[in-house]
Amino acid sequence: MRSVLDIVDLSVAELDELMRTACDIIENPEKYQEACRHKKLATLFFEPSTRTRLSFEAAMYELGGNVISVSSAGASSAAKGESVADTAKTVSCYADIIAMRHPKEGAALVASRAATIPVINAGDGGHNHPTQTLADLLTIFREKGRMDNLTIGLCGDLKFGRTVHSLINAMSRYSNIRFVLISPEELKVPSYVKKDVLQKQGIPYLQTTDLETALPELDILYMTRVQRERFFNEEDYLRLKDSYILTPQKLTGAKDDLCIMHPLPRVNEISVAIDDDPRACYFKQVSNGKYMRMALILKLLKEAGTI
Ligand code: CP
Repeated sequence: MRSVLDIVDLSVAELDELMRTACDIIENPEKYQEACRHKKLATLFFEPSTRTRLSFEAAMYELGGNVISVSSAGASSAAKGESVADTAKTVSCYADIIAMRHPKEGAALVASRAATIPVINAGDGGHNHPTQTLADLLTIFREKGRMDNLTIGLCGDLKFGRTVHSLINAMSRYSNIRFVLISPEELKVPSYVKKDVLQKQGIPYLQTTDLETALPELDILYMTRVQRERFFNEEDYLRLKDSYILTPQKLTGAKDDLCIMHPLPRVNEISVAIDDDPRACYFKQVSNGKYMRMALILKLLKEAGTI
């Protein structure tokens, strides 16, 4: 049974195919409105979410399917000590596909081994968030018109930021990509990502703490939140949380066609004064995410022979 736990579970050809399907859904929504009729998506969210859970649910409804949902760990038998594996086996009796978010790295993998239906990782701790990356890829494609020849700045919490790790993995597979990794010393990209992805594939990258100096050369600026929930120590979080705040003044000198992205939720990282700047793409990512999740649900249910 095919599950998607990591963005590298999908080949570049499959990513391109998902983007083509998403673009077709955007242009011809009526073609897809009965595609998942009588099929059920289970959203199992053991960690808070607005975009990912609701976009998965909106995606399934727009495909003509139905949704059953656990919206918090406290509202399920996980609160009584039920294992992830037993939960996945149980939900396989009710639904055709699972989207699962969990605070523990590897939880979606455990679920996929126990489930008899496809499992989509909707975020596992600080590890991976492949469907956010699908939203990011479609946004890059629609805004820049290409997936290659790009200088991508990633800024903020690059250590715990699962969206950052997934995006580095995905974009490293396209041609002539260069990364500028902008973070405080304490929140640098983990060495396993640098060693196993960037260095292994000979992808050029620069590490810096200085956003303003890096900005003029960037085609894409991917801002991220410093995530309170990943810190063991409140003092460290308070010291680092406002390390980078993007303001209109800081954008002086940035390219006119810069694409400013953020997986959201935002706290202080991007001033609301930037929201009306044509370069602000973070709410376009939200919208693109729903279409890519529709494309992924369709693909996995087709491969499973369910539709
Ligand atoms: N980007 C993202 O995962 O948002 P949520 O936490 O609201 O789902």
